[in-house]
Amino acid sequence: MLEQYLKSNLAWWDEAVGVHVNADLYDVEGFRRGRDSLTAIERDELGPLVGEGTTLLHLQCHFGMDTLSWARRGATVTGVDFSGKAVAQARRLADDVGLSRRATFVQSDLYDAPDVLDRQFDVVFSSWGVLIWLDDLERWADVVARCLRPGGVFYLAEFHPVVMLIDDGEHAGELRLTWPYFQGREPNRWDEQGSYADPRAQMAATVTYEWQHGFAEILTPLLGRGLRLDYLHEFPVTLGLEMPFLERRDDGWQHLKGGRDDIPLSFSLKMTKEAR
Ligand SMILES: C[S@@+](CC[C@H](N)C(=O)[O-])C[C@H]1O[C@@H](n2cnc3c(N)ncnc32)[C@H](O)[C@@H]1O
Repeated sequence: MLEQYLKSNLAWWDEAVGVHVNADLYDVEGFRRGRDSLTAIERDELGPLVGEGTTLLHLQCHFGMDTLSWARRGATVTGVDFSGKAVAQARRLADDVGLSRRATFVQSDLYDAPDVLDRQFDVVFSSWGVLIWLDDLERWADVVARCLRPGGVFYLAEFHPVVMLIDDGEHAGELRLTWPYFQGREPNRWDEQGSYADPRAQMAATVTYEWQHGFAEILTPLLGRGLRLDYLHEFPVTLGLEMPFLERRDDGWQHLKGGRDDIPLSFSLKMTKEAR
């Protein structure tokens, strides 16, 4: 079954790349002109640790804009994604913006990345919408730990597990918790037209399988593999999600409707691999 889930997800992502490169949400043209695609969260938190010569691995890099934003800061970057279309687009974009000498993009399933890459990095980075595609965070934590050099930093910015629980259907205005926090191994199946970046897009691939992960599930496997938690931050803002209970405010972030900022919508964490 897992193979079938991954096949469906890959078909969806392969097709989504073509939609996303033309979507306003990604603003690829702005990026070509020099726009930084990172949010203020990862810019402020991880930015000071990334500079000339930093080796950075971006897991689930999509078509590479964030990867290349780190390269623009001087890092030597490697992006990994299971979508061949995403990797091809990332390589094109790197060429277009003159960064191909310091940017490598590799097509690989997340879980195979340590064997495919066979090297370690100063920083392992991943962000915004990555964990729901993974069925097994024990294996994910293995990947992170194996790809980091001793003393290296893992940084993740992600949608908060709580945001995935809120009813986005008929009771969206009431902030009801509808979806499970504890997922188990069977994923949620979605069959929908369009993409989060362009809900009106007509796509042949419509079925995806997603796994919800709670904080214990995210953190415990990493702590068990010699990564020390430096911080875990929660934010009442998020990006990119078109949910009926969210609204975009003047600061550019999405907030809960009704002026509420009392529920976390995203989080970031930084961990350091113990130098043995
Ligand atoms: C929401 S995107 C990552 C977001 C990224 N911050 C962005 O918007 O540019 C999720 C990425 O995970 C990739 N992905 C999903 N499952 C994967 C897997 N098993 N192995 C590697 N990549 C995977 C998809 O191809 C997609 O590019």
